[in-house]
Amino acid sequence: MPPPPLELEDMPAGPASGTLLARLDALPAHGGKELVFRDGNMVLRLLVQRYGHGAVVYENRCPHAGTPLNMFDDKFVDITGGRLICRTHGALFNIGDGKCVRGPCKGDHLRTVAVEIRDGAIYSI
Ligand code: FES
Repeated sequence: MPPPPLELEDMPAGPASGTLLARLDALPAHGGKELVFRDGNMVLRLLVQRYGHGAVVYENRCPHAGTPLNMFDDKFVDITGGRLICRTHGALFNIGDGKCVRGPCKGDHLRTVAVEIRDGAIYSI
């Protein structure tokens, strides 16, 4: 069972409700974007990935060892473009629900972030 979505406003370093996170038409061809929020020593990393006509947003933290999925840049998908991949040990995740389908955390989920998509843009709730 996936954990409930994160409410960013309640997270250390999380942005206020209603914050513009990304515009769909500004995502690169591979559809991914990393967002990093800082408040003092607190860091919150999110990943945005285009999915269908919209996008999904997850905490950028692998359920296996807690590292960010990407080692660099904004690319989160595997070579097929059909799954998210953790660069640390290669776990694969469904884009749509964040479930790990292969790798050391198989069956676990990425943490979903509560967002609203309207007028072609993604906002925190
Ligand atoms: S930290 Fe992601 S697969 Fe190990």
